[in-house]
Amino acid sequence: MNKLPLGRFPALRMRRMRSSDWSRRLVAETSLSPNDFIHAVVLKEGTGVREPVDAMPGVHRLSVDRAVELAMEARDLGIPALALFPYTDAEARTPGGEEALNPDNLMCRAARAIKQAVPDIGLMADVALDPYTDHGHDGLMRDGVILNDETVEVLVKQAVAEAEAGFDIIAPSDMMDGRVGAIRQGLDEAGCENVQIMAYAAKYASAFYGPYREAIGSAGVLKGDKRTYQMDPANTDEALREVALDLAEGADSVMVKPGLAYLDIVARVKEAFGAPTFVFQVSGEYAMIKAAAQNGWLDGDRAMLEALMAFKRAGANGVITYFGMEAAKALQSG
Ligand code: PBG
Repeated sequence: MNKLPLGRFPALRMRRMRSSDWSRRLVAETSLSPNDFIHAVVLKEGTGVREPVDAMPGVHRLSVDRAVELAMEARDLGIPALALFPYTDAEARTPGGEEALNPDNLMCRAARAIKQAVPDIGLMADVALDPYTDHGHDGLMRDGVILNDETVEVLVKQAVAEAEAGFDIIAPSDMMDGRVGAIRQGLDEAGCENVQIMAYAAKYASAFYGPYREAIGSAGVLKGDKRTYQMDPANTDEALREVALDLAEGADSVMVKPGLAYLDIVARVKEAFGAPTFVFQVSGEYAMIKAAAQNGWLDGDRAMLEALMAFKRAGANGVITYFGMEAAKALQSG
């Protein structure tokens, strides 16, 4: 008797499971839903403002009133949280970035207004000085050097101001050493012990942040680059050490940034620590998909959902993304 060898072609045909939609849905190993998104929002002073960001088609700088409207829509779409970023005019910037500490700054006013109108949406605040400094760096600068410990002291105050304004997640994106522990202590001393910290733990010095700098008004002002504090794209063991330190200092969750070019880091971080792990699909990743779609070079919706799914497959619990609203709508309409 000539028996077919099982587990081998032709008895085994991998295409069998892929042959219809119902079957593909049954065996899908990863899923994507609006619960996976922290939608990124850029704020601007004024009222009724909805100003396009040239390098990010579909993204607008929103005044607080408009951001409140967006928050309602996001909640209705099932998006759990928003990440807010402020645009600042060159004239409003200072060497020390003092506006970061103003409890009535754009970020804090937006948080209070959104929390009042939509109390059940999570709000995440970036902690770093780059939207406020006239040199565009994330920290204080002396003689061309970004100061570590002096910067951390200021970041703690910025974090407390943001937490007191109603932000639920404080996300230090500055890459100074020791800032997570200092911010945790500062938050606890201010009575904000329930405010979370999501550490931008493995943040690389990346060209993919280009469009963001235009979005927040840093593009023209940034002097030099951020390579003395952000990570070298060549490194991966170093990312694990950064994550280990931030978790030891009290981070509730960690982030890898950028996303698509760093999926190996996401996978390693999740595997090594099993901590809540997020990935930031940054401005340049958004811009690439949008630009190609606008030219008819790829299907924008499919590319968007494929990239977002890839983050989940690599091990991310969620994604900070400018596509949040659009992706939620696309998922809703099937
Ligand atoms: C600043 C900050 C950056 C981003 C988030 N927070 C830019 C940078 O580090 O230069 C990038 C976001 C994006 O590109 O979408 N600390």
